[in-house]
Amino acid sequence: MSNRRPYVGGNWKMHGELAGAVEVTDNVAAAIGEAAEAVEVTLFPPFPYLQAVGDALRQCGIGLGGQDCSPHLEGAHTGQTSPAMIADLGGSAALIGHSERRNELGEPDALIAAKTRAALAASLQPVVCVGETMGEREAGIALQVVERQVRAALEGLSGAQVGTSVLAYEPVWAIGTGITATPDDAQSAHSMIRSLLGELYDDELADSVRIIYGGSVKAANAAELFSAPDVDGGLIGGASLKVDEFASICRAAVSA
Ligand code: PGA
Repeated sequence: MSNRRPYVGGNWKMHGELAGAVEVTDNVAAAIGEAAEAVEVTLFPPFPYLQAVGDALRQCGIGLGGQDCSPHLEGAHTGQTSPAMIADLGGSAALIGHSERRNELGEPDALIAAKTRAALAASLQPVVCVGETMGEREAGIALQVVERQVRAALEGLSGAQVGTSVLAYEPVWAIGTGITATPDDAQSAHSMIRSLLGELYDDELADSVRIIYGGSVKAANAAELFSAPDVDGGLIGGASLKVDEFASICRAAVSA
């Protein structure tokens, strides 16, 4: 890690029910405590629980985000949630381009770019997810795929807009599988992304953007992953619903 402020996101996916969501939030807030000053922590609950989780988080220094957002700010778009609505409920961030949406719903790069622009237009922090599948890795094109996804998502964005964003490298084969990338694998993708930011913008910007790793991060492997120089924290799925695990991952990000 570097002098970039570490970032840990808790992606709850489509798990839980209302009472449990509020309980986990209360417990996470208590367990993280003062670490929330040294690490930026954001919870991404399912949309129907956004307001209740936001209410439970009030004043504790932990952020709230949506797991997706519409590429539109408002209008006749049945079933979608606009970034402005997320902001209206106190949200400050949105996950964009998660592989479960790219792969289950067929979200293409151009849609992900439009969602990133919409999030920024509503003053949300986009957390843009990229990552290769196992087939792409085995074909030796992992870094090309990640580069294509990053270039597409950032198309037309200013340096200032990219500076407020977070990029999440999440190899698809590591998500929810218990198989984690090695710190070296993560570092090579993260350093490629950082060099690309230097090429597209400048070195100062590249050095300031948080690039986090996701894919089977748990308390037992977080410190090692976060010790890679270009890994600035993590996007945590399964372990984010286990309060003690999540709190120790946040503490590992602080001490990395
Ligand atoms: P996982 O999910 O930690 O359960 O692998 C990570 C993610 O999908 O963001």
